[in-house]
Amino acid sequence: MLFGKVLSIVVAAAGLLDGSMDAAMPDKNIDGTMFLVNRQHTVAEQYIPDGLRKTEVYGMSQSMREDAATALEAFFEAAKTEGGVSLSTVSGYRSYSKQSTIYARKKSTTGSTEAADKLVAKPGTSEHQLGLAMDIARKGSSSLTAKFGETEEGKWVYSNCHRYGFIVRYMQGFEEITGYSYEPWHIRYVGVEQATAIYESGVPMETYMSGLKLDTYDYLVHQATNEVLP
Ligand code: DAL
Ligand code: ZN
Repeated sequence: MLFGKVLSIVVAAAGLLDGSMDAAMPDKNIDGTMFLVNRQHTVAEQYIPDGLRKTEVYGMSQSMREDAATALEAFFEAAKTEGGVSLSTVSGYRSYSKQSTIYARKKSTTGSTEAADKLVAKPGTSEHQLGLAMDIARKGSSSLTAKFGETEEGKWVYSNCHRYGFIVRYMQGFEEITGYSYEPWHIRYVGVEQATAIYESGVPMETYMSGLKLDTYDYLVHQATNEVLP
């Protein structure tokens, strides 16, 4: 009986590793929308996402992955028609080398690695390299400051971007978990379902993903238990 239970868990775990349950282990697939990138989860220098294209919205000429670009266009349109606010793109896909330049510049303007690290990700640790992140500002502005969160535009973005598949990735009060200062301007595409769940959970992506892993474990044990018990 015990052997059967252990065997079921091993078989189910093998299924997960095989990618047959991507929804339960979304962080394993770099081309998926739920790949977690932070200081602990890095991206290879050579990684360039497939399907990058320019976003067709107001703002600086910036690229995203196709799925994220399409969602961003719908989101900007809704911002105007539903929210009565106009947004502008500032920074989307960044290659490893572009991120290196931005990081070096931030180190030089802040005068310290410690200060720079709270604001800009080291190359290979930025989700901008996934092509799924966009920094946004009010129309006509390129200023990325915490004040954006207090503006009509910033509030609308925070409360509505999940409906288009985005989350505000670096929230106020979670700096210890995300590793970065509050960035109300940085939105990350994860798809509508996950974005809505993350938004409703009120926690950052890191915390949400640990919960998913626990759920997966519960699921495996439950499956195994159901299979072997009479
Ligand atoms: N500002 C965010 C953390 C980045 O550089 O990716
Ligand atoms: Zn950003």
